[in-house]
Amino acid sequence: MQFFIDTANLGDIREAHALGILDGVTTNPSLMAKEGIAGKDRVLAHYKAIADIVQGPVSAEVIATDLAGMLAEAEELIEVDPNIVVKVPMIKDGVKAIKALSDRGIKTNCTLVFSAGQAILAAKAGATYVSPFVGRLDDVSTDGLALIEDIVTIYTNYGYDTQVLAASIRHPMHIIECARMGADVITSPLGPILALLNHPLTDKGLAQFLADHKRVS
Ligand code: E4P
Repeated sequence: MQFFIDTANLGDIREAHALGILDGVTTNPSLMAKEGIAGKDRVLAHYKAIADIVQGPVSAEVIATDLAGMLAEAEELIEVDPNIVVKVPMIKDGVKAIKALSDRGIKTNCTLVFSAGQAILAAKAGATYVSPFVGRLDDVSTDGLALIEDIVTIYTNYGYDTQVLAASIRHPMHIIECARMGADVITSPLGPILALLNHPLTDKGLAQFLADHKRVS
């Protein structure tokens, strides 16, 4: 399973990259706004800065919601870096945009996916990645992980190439369960990724090893 970090914060991206486990990055307009990145030139420059840190897919989301606007934005985004993946919302024109881009060999990430039906459309349109939002479903008392399991099953049934990119990850159990279910990728903020490191028996065991070593040194 690939690990993407879901942030536009360069410090967090560098920290995850330094761990040696980072395969890519996803961003969205809210994450860009959180970093205070606004205006086309600054936004494109920020995507370039991210792509320079991580040699892997970097999802950059279109703002337009009409087909022509999305395709025009995609042209600008793919000029930034060869690793840019055009992130497109799951709306009618978004599906058309994914189909048009994938027909040209441009990588896409279909975002804001909350149902298996939407995931089927994304795959049929040729999306490189589909992004079901696990945490946001959990937030409305719906089992987000069950959606991951459904999409993995459906894609396996038909041999769809679209990769299941589990998004809106909130805690380490989301990551572990996505791995158990066979998601191709998770995208997570830094916190849940680092939380995978933790186990009290590791801390206790290490303290004991060091104490024993010191006792005889
Ligand atoms: C997907 O790529 C989104 O950027 C993201 O995972 C949304 O997560 P959130 O629900 O924590 O905002």
